[in-house]
Amino acid sequence: MKIFILIILFTYSLFSKVDQKQLELGEKLYKNTCISCHGVNGEGNDDMNLIVKSRNLSKSILTKEQTYFIIKDGAHYWGAKSDIMPAFKYVFKDYEIRALSSYISEIFNPNIKQTIKKEFLKSGNIIKENISKMLKVGEKVFKRNCSLCHGIKGEGDGIAIDSLEDSIFPYNLTKTILSTQQMFLYVKYGGHAWGTHKSDMPAWGKKYDNFTLKSVVKYVDEVLRDNKY
Ligand code: HEC
Ligand code: HEC
Repeated sequence: MKIFILIILFTYSLFSKVDQKQLELGEKLYKNTCISCHGVNGEGNDDMNLIVKSRNLSKSILTKEQTYFIIKDGAHYWGAKSDIMPAFKYVFKDYEIRALSSYISEIFNPNIKQTIKKEFLKSGNIIKENISKMLKVGEKVFKRNCSLCHGIKGEGDGIAIDSLEDSIFPYNLTKTILSTQQMFLYVKYGGHAWGTHKSDMPAWGKKYDNFTLKSVVKYVDEVLRDNKY
């Protein structure tokens, strides 16, 4: 019995040590490479004169795994219109990218998974709703509102890109990494709530009820998106 407990304690300390080491490595790499754009505490650096300002990572809606993919492939691969957030797979080894994503997720936004779940549940369960009705509503709303910026097929090429004075960079939604729950919250509360610098991606929660918002997200997910991350 004693030996058994010792083994458990040993394994536990081994793992927590590994985690601690991983966080230390993540912190080191972050401070060397990322703070110029994202700031010391992930809050974003407004002084950098970039056409798309970097995200406030402490508000990011991404989970640790998604953060890993964004760092590895760059934001453009997952739908961003700019490629200012580079792909680091050519710079870092896989374990270094994992260390970075652990550092960001555990230090800057540790509770994001629970937040997403809680916020989503708060907005009512509509699992029993008729899917074809949702897709119809979703298509109508998407074509009326979202396509202006995101384009009729969601590829980020709507007419607003040319006509708005301030240049905007709407995501290519066919490539989004977000889950349907995350998309719903993103659309409901707008980009600024989840770390974008400006409010270019508006909050739709005041204009539409939860059913309509879930419908438009369903439409993006089922009809427009071509990656099933
Ligand atoms: C040259 C500036 C720049 C550097 C350097 C940079 N980033 Fe970024 N990052 C950005 C921008 C800009 C975005 C927003 C993407 C967009 O909308 O185009 C972003 C987005 C992100 C996101 C996605 C956040 C979200 O919620 O969608 C993560 C994660 C991230 N960066 C992590 C990192 C890490 C880790 C490093 C260092 C290894 C790093 N970045 C270095 C500019 C930068
Ligand atoms: C005024 C232009 C505009 C309109 C209208 C608009 N968006 Fe956006 N959207 C953006 C921009 C710009 C971004 C990129 C983030 C940012 O800079 O705020 C974005 C980002 C998103 C994202 C996040 C994608 C990701 O992978 O991170 C989703 C989801 C989204 N929009 C869905 C919608 C839906 C659904 C509608 C319609 C209800 C809509 N948007 C209407 C401009 C717009």
